[in-house]
Amino acid sequence: MDRKTPLLEVKNVNKVYSLGKVTVTALKKIDLQIFEQDYISIMGPSGSGKTTLLDVISTLLRPTQGDVLIEGKSTQAMGDEELAKIRGKTIGFVFQTFNLIPTLTALENVSLPLWFQDIPIQEREKIAQEKLLQVGLSDRMHHKPNELSGGQRQRVAIARALAVNPKVIVADEPTGNLDSSSGDQILKLFDSLNQEEHKTVIMVTHERSVAEHAQKIIYIKDGLIDRIEQHR
Ligand SMILES: Nc1ncnc2c1ncn2[C@@H]1O[C@H](COP(=O)(O)OP(=O)(O)OP(=O)(O)O)[C@@H](O)[C@H]1O
Ligand SMILES: [Mg+2]
Repeated sequence: MDRKTPLLEVKNVNKVYSLGKVTVTALKKIDLQIFEQDYISIMGPSGSGKTTLLDVISTLLRPTQGDVLIEGKSTQAMGDEELAKIRGKTIGFVFQTFNLIPTLTALENVSLPLWFQDIPIQEREKIAQEKLLQVGLSDRMHHKPNELSGGQRQRVAIARALAVNPKVIVADEPTGNLDSSSGDQILKLFDSLNQEEHKTVIMVTHERSVAEHAQKIIYIKDGLIDRIEQHR
């Protein structure tokens, strides 16, 4: 891939939610290019469209109009299966509520995305162990989510996102359910993923102190990009 091709590109995107006769225009004419190793925060008031934008960027949600390109490839005409496959290889997801499977151990939760990629069991375990070590949880591999603290659960979720070695980590309010010291640990992890492992990180937050970890803060307001602030 040549260096100038964005990893993810949003082109003239509108997103309209329809609920019966009520429609909500959540995104209007969004254009955005995200390159390898970018570190981006999305901020804005509640209901401004942050989650919708993140879901559209990460191709979890299809836009009503416009296109999203992954490494220069249009996703508009792609079938759901093909899109899921490309998304699964490119993007790791971290959610505010962690979304771990309660009946599975940390190791099994982290192994799960590898199972979907048809990776043999021994290799799955080895990778899952490595990723848990990376997030500082090698002593909690066999704990289930309810036997872990909130910060530890979120670190399991990050290990799971990293399991498939994605180029991009996408996170919606990743510190929203954590106390400030657990939140700081998560942010340090994101910082090192970006700076040392050259991952692209895109996160939504409503806290400026969190957003400032990124190089670029995108402010959205009423579904429009209001301004973009460059740091560092
Ligand atoms: N599935 C949906 N169906 C209909 N309307 C929706 C849906 N999801 C979001 N919306 C509406 O779209 C707008 C943007 O929602 P979104 O969740 O993107 O906001 P947000 O900026 O993430 O807010 P918050 O900070 O509260 O998480 C809101 O007005 C919301 O009510
Ligand atoms: Mg949201």
